Amino acid sequence: MNIIEVEQLTVNYEKTSVLWDINFAIPEKKIVGILGPNGAGKSTLLKALLGLVKPLSGHITFFGKPLAEVRQRVGYVPQRSSVDWDFPITAFDLVMMGRYGKMGLLKWASKEDREATRAALEQVEMLAFADRQIGQLSGGQQQRLFIARALVQDADVYLLDEPFAGIDMATEKTLLSLFEVLRKQGKTLLIVHHNLASTENYFDWLILLNTCLIATGSVSEVFNQQNIWRTFGRSSILLDEAVIKAKNKTSGLL
Ligand SMILES: Nc1ncnc2c1ncn2[C@@H]1O[C@H](COP(=O)(O)OP(=O)(O)OP(=O)(O)O)[C@@H](O)[C@H]1O
Ligand SMILES: [Mg+2]
Repeated sequence: MNIIEVEQLTVNYEKTSVLWDINFAIPEKKIVGILGPNGAGKSTLLKALLGLVKPLSGHITFFGKPLAEVRQRVGYVPQRSSVDWDFPITAFDLVMMGRYGKMGLLKWASKEDREATRAALEQVEMLAFADRQIGQLSGGQQQRLFIARALVQDADVYLLDEPFAGIDMATEKTLLSLFEVLRKQGKTLLIVHHNLASTENYFDWLILLNTCLIATGSVSEVFNQQNIWRTFGRSSILLDEAVIKAKNKTSGLL
């Protein structure tokens, strides 16, 4: 069964389409990379999947059902820059929000909720910072908090918006092994990613996006020079490394 199915999804901000006629299906137990240049619509795609932006048209299902019926099974880690870090809550409270999705209910937290929160903080090596206000943490620490919040939710699908942005190599490794553990538990992860050089190592399925869907499928099927160029354009020198790596995979294109 497909975990997510998206049909004819179009999203406009005012009169401009930022996602146009997107169709894809994600099989289960995959770590899926969503790749595309700045402004390609990656964050918007996650928000549309979560019902946070209203599409102009389209049909989206998780486990064959509409989001409303399975909301608790879908976890979200937002792009770090999109969060109000001045919000007066502690790291512990932010993570515990994963149990409810709502601040107002925190006062009803059970012993079990608190224990799950402690365990998740420990998993991302943040227990020592439990009582800190969230704005008084480094970027990488904030990122890890959001991962912990998703973990306590115990979802089946996780949507993560650039979890690797602005973190050091050690944190990146911690996150990667955590994602691998989640996949082995049968979970599906959709991860917005920017680094083409690590794409082949991190993902087994890809969505290449630039307002339109450029390609989707297994990494071995779609991660090639032609698709990279079609997604990002030919001019960026940042692409050189990835293009060289993918060069052997397409014949006669250079
Ligand atoms: N609330 C909004 N109102 C109007 N336009 C928006 C809004 N949010 C995003 N956009 C525009 O929609 C397009 C897609 O934005 P989106 O944030 O989805 O891109 P992205 O692929 O996540 O980019 P990045 O790599 O920079 O995070 C951009 O052109 C952006 O300026
Ligand atoms: Mg984004």
